[in-house]
Amino acid sequence: RADLRLGSRIVAMRAGGLALAVRGDPVARLMHRPWRLDPYPTYARLRAAGEASGGVARSRTGIRAVATHEACTAVLRDRRFGVRLADGRMPFDPTDDASTASGGPSNHDPTDPGTALIEPIDLSLLGLDAPDHTRLRRLAQPTFAPKRLAQYRETARAVTGRLLDGAPADGPFDLVSALAAPLPISVISELLAIPDVDTPRFAAWGRVVGAALDGVRSVRHAHALSRATADLRALFADLVERRRADPGEDVISQLVHALDEGTLTLDELVSLAQLLLIAGFETTTNLVGNAARALHTSGTWDDLVADPGLAAAVVEETLRWDPPVQLTARFAHSDVELGGQRLRRDTGVLVLLASAGRDPAAHPDPDRFDPHREQATTHLAFSGGAHYCLGAALARMEGEVALEMLAERRPRLRPAGRFVPRVATVLRGPRRFGVRAD
Ligand code: HEM
Repeated sequence: RADLRLGSRIVAMRAGGLALAVRGDPVARLMHRPWRLDPYPTYARLRAAGEASGGVARSRTGIRAVATHEACTAVLRDRRFGVRLADGRMPFDPTDDASTASGGPSNHDPTDPGTALIEPIDLSLLGLDAPDHTRLRRLAQPTFAPKRLAQYRETARAVTGRLLDGAPADGPFDLVSALAAPLPISVISELLAIPDVDTPRFAAWGRVVGAALDGVRSVRHAHALSRATADLRALFADLVERRRADPGEDVISQLVHALDEGTLTLDELVSLAQLLLIAGFETTTNLVGNAARALHTSGTWDDLVADPGLAAAVVEETLRWDPPVQLTARFAHSDVELGGQRLRRDTGVLVLLASAGRDPAAHPDPDRFDPHREQATTHLAFSGGAHYCLGAALARMEGEVALEMLAERRPRLRPAGRFVPRVATVLRGPRRFGVRAD
């Protein structure tokens, strides 16, 4: 904690539960508003900063950041790193101060009443290392089997058609609330077989929990988060009881079966269902929003209109060029050597997934958005290693359906009104995107 307090040069910032301070430190910049709005120049600085040290940039706080494609891939696949601390504790446990000592993160500031109000966010799979991670992931995997994907595609097409029927053909509308947000909510609701889905309520929960990935910034947010997680828990606990009484083909029914066999606990089941809801919602919304914007700023919207089959390539290029999830973090499980540097046990490493997509060593002319380019799938937008996104195929399909149908049904779509960005470090996308199509 002492080395986080460097006199007047310090600005306190918190993001993703990581307490970072030090003005002028490129790693700390990532958390600071002006740079968060356009983080790509900072990523370029970090790639340059890491050049002399095996791609590993060092923050004065002790935290490291990897920004090149090669270094990010290496850390994600390296079994000496995990998502928890070496002894299995959560890195962001607000009741615990110890991890800050080694430059590891903590989001607990004892003077901040907000953090005292909440439990750590339950990230289920995302917050577990093996063997619990392996066991739960195996149980969740069948949900995303290819034969199910075909069924979800039908749902995505039907929902997109209905949403576009409801969006004005001759006036302005908000692309996020009209299509990008409700589409993934409907698909996930089918996946979880949630009856009578209340889309605005779901959207509100998703927003509150999604924002918490960047840390809890106010007492108001802490209260909203507590309410949202309590509501979600109640919803899923109720759903478990209903599926137990009347099982179906859905993922919750399968998990209830595992629960009854003793391979999973009720808490784990509820957390997993919660993760599936949250992981698949804001991320996919951002994918559609970022893609629509990139197509217009790059002047390639008409290419998609001329050939809606280009939608899959647009999705890949968006994932490389402006991905919905910008970064993740890993923690050293022992003293390790990384890029020629010695990292002490529990040192936090930010893995800058979005920076890897702009690495000139992996992608020629990386700052140009070009859906016609080859090899776009080498991006790390879905992470890598043990935590590679379980919903990657589903997200790709939803993005493809949304963009393809948008180009077919609203060929004259163009920005009109405001693009209101989400100001966040982990998730990147629009909160609102004004468009018109007449
Ligand atoms: C994990 C991105 C959509 C379910 C992840 C991770 C990333 C990611 C980066 C790994 C984080 C880490 O390594 O620490 C995305 C993006 C999406 C998307 C960019 C949309 C464009 C979805 C969807 C679902 C989903 C639609 C399911 C409904 C999951 C789950 C995990 C995960 C369950 C945890 C996997 C594990 O820890 O083993 N996602 N995701 N995601 N994602 Fe996605």
